Amino acid sequence: MNVYKRSSAFYSTPSGPGVHPLDHLDKHYLCDRLAVATPCGPEIDLLMDRARLELPGIARNEVARRVSADNPDSFWVIRRKPAAGEGPGAPRGLAAFLMFNENGFDALVRGELDATDPPREALVGQHERPAAIYVWLVHAKGLVAPALSLVMEKLKTPLYRDVDLFARAVTREGSQFNDSLGFRRGLWWDGRYHHEFHHYRRDWHLGAAPLVPTAVRTLAPPPADARPIRIKVAHGIEDLSKAFAVRAVVYIGEQDCPYDEEFDGNDFAGGHLLALAGDEPVGCARIRYFGAFAKLERLAVRAQYRRRGIGRQLVEAATEFVRAKGYDTLYAHAQKRLVPFWAGQGFRLVDPRKSFAFSDFEYVEIVKSVTPPADAIGLGADPFLVIRPEGAWDRPGILERSAERTPQNATA
Ligand SMILES: CC(C)(COP(=O)(O)OP(=O)(O)OC[C@H]1O[C@@H](n2cnc3c(N)ncnc32)[C@H](O)[C@@H]1OP(=O)(O)O)[C@@H](O)C(=O)NCCC(=O)NCCS
Repeated sequence: MNVYKRSSAFYSTPSGPGVHPLDHLDKHYLCDRLAVATPCGPEIDLLMDRARLELPGIARNEVARRVSADNPDSFWVIRRKPAAGEGPGAPRGLAAFLMFNENGFDALVRGELDATDPPREALVGQHERPAAIYVWLVHAKGLVAPALSLVMEKLKTPLYRDVDLFARAVTREGSQFNDSLGFRRGLWWDGRYHHEFHHYRRDWHLGAAPLVPTAVRTLAPPPADARPIRIKVAHGIEDLSKAFAVRAVVYIGEQDCPYDEEFDGNDFAGGHLLALAGDEPVGCARIRYFGAFAKLERLAVRAQYRRRGIGRQLVEAATEFVRAKGYDTLYAHAQKRLVPFWAGQGFRLVDPRKSFAFSDFEYVEIVKSVTPPADAIGLGADPFLVIRPEGAWDRPGILERSAERTPQNATA
């Protein structure tokens, strides 16, 4: 599977200060004193027990042993290099990956697979090319970055060198650590935005210069009880009703906006994103399209769900969504009191001196510039890709399946 094609991951290369792509961590940094090897069973137990003290939700030792035995490239021990004449150095840490096949990774993203106990049929064996490499667990106190750089050498063989990596982070620190390694936040998959996944595309980083890592932290696995928030494109009337319900409580209820002003006649002139906790609608946003820009509007998160990152996820999802469509400008009107929120999402004021009022709030124009990817959907794209359900550009849509029927007007 080409995960890049499947995942609608139309991203630009993460770069800039503080980003040190995994493939280009400087392996000479501390690494002349470290070695990476395949651990034996007792070493796996030791390393897992040690990691579990800080990360209690990780896989059981027997699962780790099984994953390593089935595919030794999945599990690496990091040791101090022994001096001449010494035996192998004591284990200092571990880096473990799940080498997923296509179905396995699909199940993981959809939340149908327990990553702490992945079934055998979801993973590939040692000499098979995985569809996706999932960063399962990295634990090497104080040595994560140099240890990762050594392990990445193992993942640059022809079998693995162009397979994308994926990770999850539940804490802001974990996210920032992934950012610093060149991962891009969020993943559109089968019509849904998965904010918790981070995606590292190997082709982003080929040819970049090696850099010395600055971030040294432990990647934490997600806690089993985290309440999942998912973002999806509203596809039918049920989804739309949920988005309208959120806007009714937030804008009409909380902000006293008259119905006719909130439901302004433009709801069928654009697309809608919906944030769900389980099946419960908790947030939404509307996107309308103009020639030179897309406009993000009606962003709303129900009061009791605020300050949990849902507003940010909706803005991130909207940004990736319009980039995939080829837009380089996301434009919005911000309530003046919320400028700090929008600034945190990468927006800037169009004109700091200009403001205007409607529906009893003072607004300013804001804009966010993005770089559409080279393969954004545009003229020349596969015609079937263009008619797939919005946001579900990663897999064949119903109209592709309909193409298997013989056209009725074939001879007309
Ligand atoms: C604005 C709104 C969408 C934010 O949603 P949210 O889910 O609470 O936002 P998040 O939790 O994702 O916050 C993201 C960041 O913005 C900050 N933030 C959130 N609300 C903020 C506010 N009112 N003022 C300043 N910063 C704010 C958060 O602290 C967080 O910062 P961090 O990343 O440094 O931690 C939500 O408050 C809302 O629905 N308000 C009512 C509707 C509305 O006025 N919409 C905007 C019209 S322009």
